[in-house]
Amino acid sequence: MAELEVLPDAAVLIEGDRIAAVGRYGDLRRETHDVQRGGEVVDVVEVAGVLFPGFVDCHTHAVFGAPRLDDHQRRALGEDYKTIAARGGGILQSVNDVRARSEADLAALARARITALLAHGSTTIEVKSGYGLALDAELKQLRVVRQLQGTQPATLVPTFLGAHEVPPELRERRAEYVRQLCEEMIPAVARERLAVACDVFCEPGVFSVAETRTILETARRHGLALRLHADELDGAGGAELAAELGAASADHLAGISERGIRALAASETVAVLLPATMVFLGTGRQAPARRLLDQGAAIALASDFNPGSSPTVSLPLVMTLGVSQLGLRHAEAVTAVTANAAAALGLAGDRGQIAPGFRADLALAAVSEWREMAYWMGVNHVTAVWTGGFACPLPTGPVSLTSHVQV
Ligand code: NIG
Ligand code: FE
Repeated sequence: MAELEVLPDAAVLIEGDRIAAVGRYGDLRRETHDVQRGGEVVDVVEVAGVLFPGFVDCHTHAVFGAPRLDDHQRRALGEDYKTIAARGGGILQSVNDVRARSEADLAALARARITALLAHGSTTIEVKSGYGLALDAELKQLRVVRQLQGTQPATLVPTFLGAHEVPPELRERRAEYVRQLCEEMIPAVARERLAVACDVFCEPGVFSVAETRTILETARRHGLALRLHADELDGAGGAELAAELGAASADHLAGISERGIRALAASETVAVLLPATMVFLGTGRQAPARRLLDQGAAIALASDFNPGSSPTVSLPLVMTLGVSQLGLRHAEAVTAVTANAAAALGLAGDRGQIAPGFRADLALAAVSEWREMAYWMGVNHVTAVWTGGFACPLPTGPVSLTSHVQV
């Protein structure tokens, strides 16, 4: 993860939606002149700055309604995440909100938020459901993702997170909700091909390890890849379960045990760390990134973009936190939002690198040295983005993340 190849005076040759060649500017320029003499047209785009592989944000909850401003202040005054949730704030507040909104309204909000993510360099974005917690409302969120797929330039990777929380109407009958997830919701999602993966919030007080196992084994039988919100606050065997089930990723991990670290290190499961969440929650804790790396686990970083615990669209900010909160090298932070984040989504051979054969997803930053990307804290240096070889229209000013929101 610490070894990056950095090419000065570089050029990238793109053919169709793929990278055809990468090399010294002078060399590729000569080659393209030869191609042009042969009658083919090569469009030349001259850029200044540092060109990165388009960032891969492998963990977001980007389809939601209003921000949760009260939760933010209640935490500041000393209430913790679980207490706020128990008193009617937290995830269930976003659930009531999403259930009440039309698909068109949610799509308009999600479109603006995806545009903001893209403007910060994220060209591939995983998006979870999980604010519906009932068949129709979960499908509504996933249909929003489908509607935005192909009508805006980023690639969206949908994940079903019906097991984000037990819905209020089944609070006293949680086994019935697990049954609905397994017998009704997962089959419907798989049948309509509305998601490629299934995630569960595996945490004491939310879904137990046993419930998580039941849900994810069902998801696997329906052909979905597996992810877990694992050991986010209190460790309870989530990471071990992720490794045992061969999950694509185990995410959060601030409460991971030594056994969990060893299990992930010995597995193919990518440890997705979300440092912005721990900072925004004010927990003063972070996942043990160095211990994970030293034991041989693969680490990715993601935004966890959501209205409760991480209202940021900026992977560059997450990279800064990766260095200063998790103890990553700058190069490790870059790998964590590119090649390794692609691996967490099962796209390692397709994106996350500027190399021949990879998809031509690129982010250009107005910095003079690549390490600055993870240095200027909270500054967006991205000036241009390409997906599938095409330049993306970027917003000329700030994107409103709350327009249309009725608070
Ligand atoms: O990743 N941990 C659970 N899910 C989100 C929070 C979602 C919310 O609070 O709305 C997370 O932190
Ligand atoms: Fe999350």
